[in-house]
Amino acid sequence: MNSSWSKGLISFRHHTVIMVESVSDRRSRMVPRVFPFLHSSFFIAWLKTGKEVTMVDMNQIREDALKQIDASDSLGELDALRVSLLGKRGSIQSLMKEMKNLPKEEKPAFGAAVNELKQSVSEAIEKQKEVLAQKALNEKIESEKIDITLPGLRPSHGNLNPLNLVERELEDLFVGLGYSVIEGDEVTTDFYCFERANIPQGHPARDMQDSLFIDNEKLLRTHTTAIQMQVLEESAPNPIKVVCPGKVYRRDDDDATHSHQFMQMEGLVIGENVPLSDLKGTLEFVARKMFGKDREIRFRPSYFPFTEPSVEVDVTCHMCNGKGCPTCKGTGWIEILGAGEVHPNVLRMAGYDPDKMNGFAFGVGLERIAMLKYGIDDIRHFYTNDRRFNETFDRFD
Ligand code: PHE
Repeated sequence: MNSSWSKGLISFRHHTVIMVESVSDRRSRMVPRVFPFLHSSFFIAWLKTGKEVTMVDMNQIREDALKQIDASDSLGELDALRVSLLGKRGSIQSLMKEMKNLPKEEKPAFGAAVNELKQSVSEAIEKQKEVLAQKALNEKIESEKIDITLPGLRPSHGNLNPLNLVERELEDLFVGLGYSVIEGDEVTTDFYCFERANIPQGHPARDMQDSLFIDNEKLLRTHTTAIQMQVLEESAPNPIKVVCPGKVYRRDDDDATHSHQFMQMEGLVIGENVPLSDLKGTLEFVARKMFGKDREIRFRPSYFPFTEPSVEVDVTCHMCNGKGCPTCKGTGWIEILGAGEVHPNVLRMAGYDPDKMNGFAFGVGLERIAMLKYGIDDIRHFYTNDRRFNETFDRFD
């Protein structure tokens, strides 16, 4: 203790000379620059000199700097701290400048200590920078957090009309059974619409379909049978398996169950020895796919000029399972389509030999199927283009 004091005193004298010189030469610049960072203990230690003591005080500076770095809690604050500690005019740099005032033998140790201090301070700054950057990132992530459980924005999209839904469903079914889909012209001729369908001029059956004629020969097709008559003519004498969907037109007063325009899909199968039971099997398959697996169908005798025998086809009511309810008007059965064995006259006119080839045909109204399937109570809903109506048949559901 005593020896260190005496050493200190010697040094004190020595350094006093330097300080006096400094103060007299550059008093105004040096004093304010040196004092703020050479806190008193270091100043005294420096004057006392001796390597160990200087190092202890360097450690004090380091400790203070590290404390401040550690306490900084924004990148901005940290950068300001970096400038004030390590910048050109920063405290540590200034410490270095003061080296020239030291006695020669003390310079290397002092320089090394300042360098080491600089090194550890800049390392601490870099480390803290990472910590603060991570913190800033975390805060950003937290503030921009996305709630993935929120429902997404649904793009507005159009919907298929239920008539198209039914049409596509039936087409898929028939394509699966090996049928081709053929469409024709909506404007047809008396010839294909009636003559070829075994309904000659003056035949009372023409009254069953009030027609919209364009001129004496052309009219809007009253049934898709007009397409089938052309298919027959083009295909004779070969086998046929087609369905023909499309719009048809009849002069009618529109109300909840009637429309001057509606849609049909007709099927036609021609081959050698095609049994009527194939017709029944096919229609039963379709009825079950459309209305549920427990559906039964029945044939009732009917009349169409182009088929013989002709039948009306009923399906057990899908609402009450055949018990009787308002949908089936208490009967348990719902009429869905007309069908029959293709009339020999029709085959002959198209170019077939009715003794070698035969077949069946059926025709279904798509509005009727859609109304039954979806519980639609007014046929006019299909044509009013009200998006709210179509939206109830969302194709993405
Ligand atoms: N074409 C008939 C109609 O429009 C339906 C039908 C087609 C009936 C094929 C029997 C065979 O009413």
